[in-house]
Amino acid sequence: MSISKSLILDAYRWRHACKEFDANKKISDEDFDFLLQIISLSPSSFGLQPYEVFVLKNPELLQELHPHLWGAQKQLPTASHILLFAIKKDITVNDAYFDHILQDVQQTPADMQEMRRNLINNHQLNEIQMKNDSRYLDDWATKQAYIALGNVMSAAAQIGIDSCPVEGFISQEVTKILTSRKVVDPKYHQAAVFCFLGYRLNQPAREKTRKSLSELVHII
Ligand SMILES: Cc1cc2nc3c(=O)[nH]c(=O)nc-3n(C[C@H](O)[C@H](O)[C@H](O)COP(=O)(O)O)c2cc1C
Repeated sequence: MSISKSLILDAYRWRHACKEFDANKKISDEDFDFLLQIISLSPSSFGLQPYEVFVLKNPELLQELHPHLWGAQKQLPTASHILLFAIKKDITVNDAYFDHILQDVQQTPADMQEMRRNLINNHQLNEIQMKNDSRYLDDWATKQAYIALGNVMSAAAQIGIDSCPVEGFISQEVTKILTSRKVVDPKYHQAAVFCFLGYRLNQPAREKTRKSLSELVHII
């Protein structure tokens, strides 16, 4: 497969963190389905996909969330679609979720399951150091969610859809609201990051700024 590099770069240059969307323009079902497939195809460590994506449509819920999303004051009321990436908390090889992924999703042959379990357990204990603090495990899950976030924004740009990732929210308040509406159970989920999608109202206020490649990349 070969896709024109210059077209891909154009899309990456065109993408920006959109501050306000055109509230009259909606993403088609076909395009939105494409974006969901991009999320689904995103890589994750050991393929565990330790996150879920909530498509927030309920107007009352969004109204309630609005004051607590300080980083999305204009995006929230104008976006076509709003995604919340929530991690699955504290996932270890001892959870039913792990068995589900290993057996039902990945169809791991029976004689390989133990080896896989040990491999992942060692990684979690030694590299992620979850034995010291389960927050390390949740940070690890968050990193996986951010890969899907990056992919969906890039793919969106390639089909002319704008996006804005949003970490600017008061986590406790958002969790409280989502819990009271039974969207998430804080025992199992933690809100990681939002992604607002739609079509830009205005062109970006300023040119993209990036540090130079020589500052970013070191060839040793
Ligand atoms: C993880 C993450 C969280 C972000 N949170 C917010 C946010 O809460 N509100 C916002 O307007 N922009 C947010 N941004 C956008 C960044 O400020 C923006 O990507 C950066 O300044 C580079 O600009 P560009 O994306 O337009 O190239 C976030 C970006 C990332 C990657």
